[in-house]
Amino acid sequence: MSTLEPTTASSRKLYIESYGCAMNFSDSEIIASIMGEHGFESTNQEEEADVIFLNTCAIRDNAEQRIRTRLIHLRSNKKQNSDLIIGVLGCMAERLKDKLLEEEKLVDVVAGPDSYRELPKLVAEVDEGGRAINVLLSREETYGDLNPVRLNSNGVNAFVSIMRGCDNMCSFCVVPFTRGRERSRDPKSIIKEAIELQNQGYKELILLGQNVDSFLWFGGGAKKDFKKLTEEERNQSIDFADLIEMVAQSVPNMRIRYSTSHPRDINEKVVHVMAKYLNICNYIHLPAQSGNSRVLEAMSRNYTREWYMDKITMIRNIIPDCGISCDIIAGFCTETEKEHKDTLSLIEWAKFDFSYMYKYSERPGTPAAKKFTDDIPEDVKGRRLSEIIAIQNKVSKEKSTDYIGKEVIVLIENSSKKSDQDWMGRNDQNLVVVFPKESYKKGEFVKVLVERCTTTTLIGKAIGIASIS
Ligand code: SAH
Ligand code: SF4
Ligand code: F3S
Repeated sequence: MSTLEPTTASSRKLYIESYGCAMNFSDSEIIASIMGEHGFESTNQEEEADVIFLNTCAIRDNAEQRIRTRLIHLRSNKKQNSDLIIGVLGCMAERLKDKLLEEEKLVDVVAGPDSYRELPKLVAEVDEGGRAINVLLSREETYGDLNPVRLNSNGVNAFVSIMRGCDNMCSFCVVPFTRGRERSRDPKSIIKEAIELQNQGYKELILLGQNVDSFLWFGGGAKKDFKKLTEEERNQSIDFADLIEMVAQSVPNMRIRYSTSHPRDINEKVVHVMAKYLNICNYIHLPAQSGNSRVLEAMSRNYTREWYMDKITMIRNIIPDCGISCDIIAGFCTETEKEHKDTLSLIEWAKFDFSYMYKYSERPGTPAAKKFTDDIPEDVKGRRLSEIIAIQNKVSKEKSTDYIGKEVIVLIENSSKKSDQDWMGRNDQNLVVVFPKESYKKGEFVKVLVERCTTTTLIGKAIGIASIS
């Protein structure tokens, strides 16, 4: 815990800009809460900020380049206001540590994902005329006791972090280095947060973790190796399937989603719980990364193409209409043309509703950077990525077209980006649905008859209020 007492000299304004994955956006809400308790009021007006925090991502090189460019722009803010404090937080801060202070002279604070309770102290050090850094990773920190301040919220969907870190060490990935060891959050605090959100009128919870299927809480302690637990501890333990069941029962009027599942760990127990509760969405984000077993081994993903296909079959046997999405990396080290074609055929076979698709970007210090040469030329990576995108778009269009003439249940989230006469929301399978507003309201569940579609958007007409319980 920070040793600082909440300050009474209030009215300093904090502006947080978030990059990267949902976990980072969720962390920004924790940061706003910690800073709020020390007299920093969150603002979404950059110009009025006394403190600007960039909560950064390091997953690919271009994510870091964006931050470098943003820092160049912030120089003029600092010229206009020499008291302005600039902090770089999150994964890029953790990866680069004090090098960031050396390289970026205008940065005053560098803080990694497990040191956010120290932020008020770090800012106080800058007030004293210094520059401040804390990049210690923790085995215990989950920020479970804090009340996140919902930033830029639509009042409908909210992120709830259920675990932190990752123990998987996929060879291409920087996350285990930037977010440290995996640890699960106390289920009691998760349920408490869910009920508070329901009381505040939120309608959808998105439970977050890098590998949610390895969530494990036993008799009041954080994660230990399951094999080393006593019989009693095992009986008392709460795994991911138990957790989503508890959440589904605790907030019956809210929809529940989660991300991300790992193909090695997702199991029938989880999918059966999903099938049992109407308020748990039939949607799984199940990144394959590649469709070739040799490449998967080089990536240290711990499953084969066949294993992955068996998991998809298992899911569709239990929930035939389950939405499934994927992450794919194009041009990983040593990938041959034939191996790349295996990825294309996996996408066709699995019929993912949509995918996030990337060119491989080597991250310094990762196992892949140490073990392999980043040997696929940029133009080949680009071409393979275009082929992956083309085939995914074809599959997505087919999947979306299948919905035409059918009714879907949609939670209204916001006005459509294209027209303020239309609402946008998502169906159970996480597809975006757009329809005329009529007299429906944000936060309502409505039945929509799908009339047409684009690649990943369903377009239709509301035909009445729906129930999810
Ligand atoms: N925990 C999640 C993914 C987190 S990172 C999982 O295991 O699936 C989100 C996605 O970024 C990954 O699924 C992967 O597709 C992509 N990614 C991670 N490292 C990358 C790298 N070095 N180059 C390109 N894409 C990468
Ligand atoms: Fe990275 Fe793999 Fe962990 Fe996902 S599971 S965060 S890809 S190491
Ligand atoms: Fe990026 Fe860190 Fe998330 S590297 S993807 S912000 S865990």
